[in-house]
Amino acid sequence: MTATPAQWPAEAIWQAIAPLLPGFTVEVLPSIDSTSSELMRRARDGRLEPTLLVTEQQTAGRGRLGRDWHSSAYEGTGVVPALTFSLGLPLAPRDWSGLSLAVGVSVAESLQPQLPAPQGGQPRILLKWPNDLWLQDGRKLGGILVETASLQLPPGTVDGTRYVVVGIGLNVLPVLAKDLGSELRTPPACLREVDATLTAASALERIAAPLVQALLGFADAGFAPFQERFAQRDLLAGRAVTLSDGTHGSAHGVAEDGALLVHTARGMQVITSAEVSVRPSAAARPA
Ligand code: BTN
Repeated sequence: MTATPAQWPAEAIWQAIAPLLPGFTVEVLPSIDSTSSELMRRARDGRLEPTLLVTEQQTAGRGRLGRDWHSSAYEGTGVVPALTFSLGLPLAPRDWSGLSLAVGVSVAESLQPQLPAPQGGQPRILLKWPNDLWLQDGRKLGGILVETASLQLPPGTVDGTRYVVVGIGLNVLPVLAKDLGSELRTPPACLREVDATLTAASALERIAAPLVQALLGFADAGFAPFQERFAQRDLLAGRAVTLSDGTHGSAHGVAEDGALLVHTARGMQVITSAEVSVRPSAAARPA
């Protein structure tokens, strides 16, 4: 594996995004507790500029449902084994439902535009409701954490505006055996399996501007324009699933507002709460 220190394309990202988001800044930090925690702290202090904050190392990364988010530590190599960044901006969609799914669609399409995956053995990037990226063989590639803060915004700001922080973590290199926590039953996947040329920096350059466009598109039209694109990569569709309360059922895709539809013994359940975790009951479906 080539150990090349990250060369972050901050200027190119800024050039692509600044015309879409006035006042936009890009920041690269060698280390921080969590890029999402930092942008939420800034928002609470009234610092509401659109900001992309990327770091080479998080010391207290956070995942969904109060879980930790660990990246592998390739100490002393200079390589950045995971892409960890957050994008914060004020946003005022009519309906926030489905935002993390729309983010997942945008990230997956940026990393792998073609479906099915191009020839050559690369695995497909799929989306596991509500906000995970998985490979088709049932290993997690990365996750998305969406948080919002309601704010005292300046007069003239559109009603319903909140500062949203979209945090994204993607393994770029394989997670080292020493970093596999006890809760990780299956070693996670990494971007190098999808595209051997990707680095944290090049992945960020691919993802950033389309992500901003996706967020602005979501603010205008909600989740509906993303529904079919999500369906094309829906890992759970047609699969037996178990909800966190133990209910078994089979997943029937997502509704126009991003809710997960699960057919159970009590009929079709509409799962909207991000607090519900869903896991496939059987092995991943074949490609
Ligand atoms: C999950 O899989 O539960 C979501 C993981 C989100 C991790 C990213 S890494 C960048 C940002 N900062 C954090 O502390 N979390 C998100």
